[in-house]
Amino acid sequence: MIKLIHITDPHLVAPGEILHGLDPHARLVACIGDVLAHHADAACAVITGDLAHRGEAPAYAALRAQVDRLPFPCFPLLGNHDLRAPYAAAFPDAPDDGGGFVQGRLDVGDASLLMLDTLDEGRNGGLYCERRRAWLERQLEQTSQRAVYLFMHHPPFDIGIPCLDRIGLSDPEAFARLTAGRPNLRHLFFGHVHRPVCGSWRGIPFSTMRGLNHQVPFDLHTVSPVPKSHEPPAYAVVFLEADQVTVHFHDYLDRSTLPERAGKAMP
Ligand SMILES: [Fe+2]
Repeated sequence: MIKLIHITDPHLVAPGEILHGLDPHARLVACIGDVLAHHADAACAVITGDLAHRGEAPAYAALRAQVDRLPFPCFPLLGNHDLRAPYAAAFPDAPDDGGGFVQGRLDVGDASLLMLDTLDEGRNGGLYCERRRAWLERQLEQTSQRAVYLFMHHPPFDIGIPCLDRIGLSDPEAFARLTAGRPNLRHLFFGHVHRPVCGSWRGIPFSTMRGLNHQVPFDLHTVSPVPKSHEPPAYAVVFLEADQVTVHFHDYLDRSTLPERAGKAMP
């Protein structure tokens, strides 16, 4: 079994700054601390984008410092709030597909993790252009006999929440043509939506969860602007096995416990 950590949308600003009434740096520090305390045996972690809220250099530096606390590889991917140049300055060793995009592959046991770059800098919607698709096609061909897991910021489909669907991935059909007919595609992990969603898309199971800072409420009507909420942050602990994928969403700041577990009598 392979254990991996999925984190998304930390939306970091400079340490000490507040965003939407919350402290994103403190939440990231607490998240990494929780992972270290309980999941230091993970094989790797992937952060599916919106690393910084406005692409600030101090935010990427702060992220780097936290990622470096982990005893296993961690792959911070790009989201629509990110900027390539300050990201690259903080993460010169980031995955590189040879074409300037933050895309890479990690083989762990029988699994191949493919990390994708959907950033269209300056736009909230995502893009998976022809050059990126060519890289992915090569990777999918090379891993056709392996269990493959995809990681990306923008989901390549609508989820029924209008404020998010309007800033989705451009040309999702081009992406869908690449992934069609590949039964070894085991799961798709993404970010961007700031709330727990799971299901399957054209036969591929998918999951995402709340980000580390602010969330998007369950609102099936608002189109713009994107509403925000203070629902609790989460990260996911994922178990990959030959015949099963299990995703545990963990509200890591929730310390509530039943009285009997705290050694007290039930009321
Ligand atoms: Fe986000």
